[in-house]
Amino acid sequence: MDYLSLSIWGGYDAKPKGADQSFGQIFKQIVGDDTKVMVVGGVFSEAAAADAVANHTDLIGVGRGTLIDPLFGKKILDDQGDTIVSQISPEQVKKAAWTPGLLKPSPEKTP
Ligand SMILES: Cc1cc2nc3c(=O)[nH]c(=O)nc-3n(C[C@H](O)[C@H](O)[C@H](O)COP(=O)(O)O)c2cc1C
Repeated sequence: MDYLSLSIWGGYDAKPKGADQSFGQIFKQIVGDDTKVMVVGGVFSEAAAADAVANHTDLIGVGRGTLIDPLFGKKILDDQGDTIVSQISPEQVKKAAWTPGLLKPSPEKTP
C-alpha cells in the first residue's frame, strides 16, 4: 500500500475517545515507514498545515479549505500563506469559481 488516507471531519489532530494519540499518529505506527499516512480534516491555514505534517501525518488533504480558497496550496508555495482566505463569503464564492453543482441547495433542504 503506497498510502492510507484518513478522512476526519473532527480535524487532523482528533483522537479516538480515551486515546492519547491522534488518529494519524496511531495509524502511522500501524502501517510503518513504507506506507504514507494522509489526513484530511480541519486544515484552513498554513500554520495548521505545518502542524499537521510536523506532528500528525506524512501528507495532508485540504477539503473545505481548498473549496474556500482554491489557491491554498499555491499561496503556501509562493510564501503567501498569510493571504489564504479561510472564511466563506458571497465574494469568495465568486472568486473560487465553484461548479454549479456545489452552489445548489442539498435536496433534503429543498421544500
Ligand atoms: C462538499 C464535500 C463533499 C464531501 N464528500 C465526501 C465523500 O463523498 N466521501 C467522504 O468520505 N468524505 C467526503 N467529504 C468529507 C471530506 O473528505 C473531509 O473528511 C472533510 O471535509 C474534512 O476535511 P476538511 O476539513 O479539509 O474539509 C466531503 C466534504 C465536503 C466539504
